Amino acid sequence: MPPDDAPPTASGADVAPIQAALLDDPLAFLSAEHARQTALLGHLERVAREPQARAARGIAVVLLRWLTRELPLHVADEERSLYPRLAAFDEAGVLDELREEHRRDRRLIADIASGLRRIARGGVPEPGFAEAAREFVAGHRKHLAHEETVLTPLARRWLGPEAMAALAAEMVARRQQQP
Ligand SMILES: [Fe+2]
Ligand SMILES: [Fe+2]
Repeated sequence: MPPDDAPPTASGADVAPIQAALLDDPLAFLSAEHARQTALLGHLERVAREPQARAARGIAVVLLRWLTRELPLHVADEERSLYPRLAAFDEAGVLDELREEHRRDRRLIADIASGLRRIARGGVPEPGFAEAAREFVAGHRKHLAHEETVLTPLARRWLGPEAMAALAAEMVARRQQQP
């Protein structure tokens, strides 16, 4: 196990880049991203607790990339490609709950990103940073559990090979459009 303040570099298997091959099974790809997000939440928790720690600057850079570039892509995969394909089977209204959780995340990320930019430059985050980060960590952990326990089984049950292939194609196209 790396020490608590070790930066989440490519050397850590928990945050290694996710391979495009996983798009062969888009639901497994999204679940692998959830596992990586769980590791990144742990890093965010530590940065919120000790923004002046030696490794905090490097971790802040990784967290910024996740929150401002990678997570929006993941949310687009879900809101634009996955949720619409499950709408007809969502009797419990879970998709609306998940969209609301995404909206709450977006509001908190705006505050957190500002603090992370300051930390990445070697500065001190705003006074509300730690609280916003803790709220995001707690809320996003619940969101991940919500998706893994309700959304993924729903998708496994209802999406056939054609829907899975179309989902994967859209996710690949979304990544190819990235600058
Ligand atoms: Fe997700
Ligand atoms: Fe989500």
